[in-house]
Order: sequence, then structure tokens, then C-alpha cells
Amino acid sequence: MEHLSVDHLVGVRDLVRQDIELIFQTADSFKEVINRPIKKVPSLRDMTIANLFFENSTRTRLSFELAEKRLSADVVNFSASSSSVKKGETLIDTVNNILSMKVDMVVMRHPNPGTAKFLSERTKTCVINAGDGTHEHPTQGLLDAFSIREKLGSVEGKKVVIIGDILHSRVALSNIYTLQKLGAEIMVCGPTTLIPKYIDTLGIKVEHNLRRALEWCDVANMLRIQLERQDIQYFPSLREYSMQYGLNKEILDSLSKEIVVMHPGPINRGVEITSDVADSKQSIILQQVENGVAVRMAVIYLLAAKIGR
Ligand code: CP
Repeated sequence: MEHLSVDHLVGVRDLVRQDIELIFQTADSFKEVINRPIKKVPSLRDMTIANLFFENSTRTRLSFELAEKRLSADVVNFSASSSSVKKGETLIDTVNNILSMKVDMVVMRHPNPGTAKFLSERTKTCVINAGDGTHEHPTQGLLDAFSIREKLGSVEGKKVVIIGDILHSRVALSNIYTLQKLGAEIMVCGPTTLIPKYIDTLGIKVEHNLRRALEWCDVANMLRIQLERQDIQYFPSLREYSMQYGLNKEILDSLSKEIVVMHPGPINRGVEITSDVADSKQSIILQQVENGVAVRMAVIYLLAAKIGR
């Protein structure tokens, strides 16, 4: 069996192209499994996985839980809002207490960038980052690229534009690392105030005009405006943002080619994307969600192999 080059999934930045290709090949098999009448394999029936969510989530949390259950792992779920973290317990103490209960792997979402790496270096468990603040959301980057590969046959050479709030987005960074390693051409598009200054170091294109970005691309990945991470005003109003950077059917239909539309969710209908675009045949938003389970099964399965399961 081929193995990943990493012992944890903290970020796509740490992966090599062969890791991503191995995850995709493994996810292909699991996608076939989850579309069978019996959607389960016994691969990880001797494993226990804890999902530690210190921040809200719908898709990622359910997707990880389903992926773990489809692999026959035992699953425990932890929500910060109802835990002893509220009583002042440190993250390390919380996790070490959970690990004492013979947990083999930890999936963690946390509002602070770097928390997954911190945990992976200070505890004796395998850590999967389910989103750490504005840093990375590696399984989202992987499932997005997997969905492009499924839709267009490959990622190599495809032109992908990521549109919107790049500054506060962990999805953007994980998408950029994944797509770059697979040989795609990448552009980010949004108002200057929502494009981070470090973008020049990543070797990708920057465009501030939505129409030009859409004319250039094969795939447009629309991001949500992350108002919960914005402590100052980055644009005059949501209405103005939507007029400049929102994707609607009129602009989509006026392009010289048919592009693929993506969104990691949750969607703000009428802000970054209108309902008729989100629900159109060009949108692969729900395929992304379906693929998330297969990709997460692959990541868990391959990391479990590294700890001898
Ligand atoms: N895409 C994503 O991370 O969604 P959730 O915040 O609902 O998990």
C-alpha cells in the first residue's frame, strides 16, 4: 500500500502532489462505496475518532462524522459550547483527557490559526485540521480540487478563479495550495481590501474586475463574505459588494463560454451568488458536498494506515 508523506493533515501546504493524487485515487473507491445500497466498509472498526469542534459547522462536521461511520470507526463528538473549556480548561488538557479514553485520531475545527499544528506537536495523536481560523481548511481544498477533476477530467492546466473574501478565507489558501500542486492556473478576484498583502508571494494572478476574471476562467469558486471575522468595514455595503462581485445569471449567461460554478458553503444567497446561479446546471455545489464525504474517508483511511490501523 502506498503511504502519505505526512502523519497529520494540518494543511495542504505540507502535502506533495503524490499525496494529493493518492487521496484522490482512494476517494474514487470510497465514492463508489457511498453510492452503494450498503454504504459502509469495515476498514476502521477498531478505531475511535473524536471530532472536536470549537467553532460552528454544518457540512464539515457532518461530513467527517459520516466519513468515519462509513469506515466503521467509533465516533465521539465534542462541542466547545457544552464542554469544560467554558470552565477554563486548556486545549491541551481537554485533548489529553479525551485521548486517555483511548481515542486514536482527532478532527479539530478551531477559530485560532495554527491550533491544529500546535496540537499535532504537543499531543500523541493523529490530528486532522477541519479549519483553523483564517489559515487552512485542507479537506475543503482537497474536495474542491477533486470536484474539478471529476467535472473537467483533470485539474492540470485548468484556470480557476477564487472570488470574494480572500483575506479572511481558510478555504482560499487550501484551494490555492492544492490547485498549485496539481498544476492549475489560479487567480483571485475581489476588492483590494479583501485581497491579503501576502498574495504576491504565492505566484498567482490578481484581478479586481469580476467580468474579466470570469472571461478568463474555466471554474469560478465563489466565497462567502465572512462578516463574523470582520472587525472593520472592508466595503461600503453588502449591496454594493453584491453589485460589484456577486455572480448572477445575467453575467453568467453573457460569458463567451460555459464555466463551472463552485461554492464551499454556507451560501449567502443574493450576496456572493444569486439563487438562480447556485441552483443552475453550471453549479456543482452539491457535488462538492457529496465528494467531501469520499475525500474525508480517504484522508482518514490513509492517515489511519500511518498509525498501523
Ligand atoms: N464549507 C464549510 O466548511 O462549511 P461549514 O462551516 O458548514 O463546515
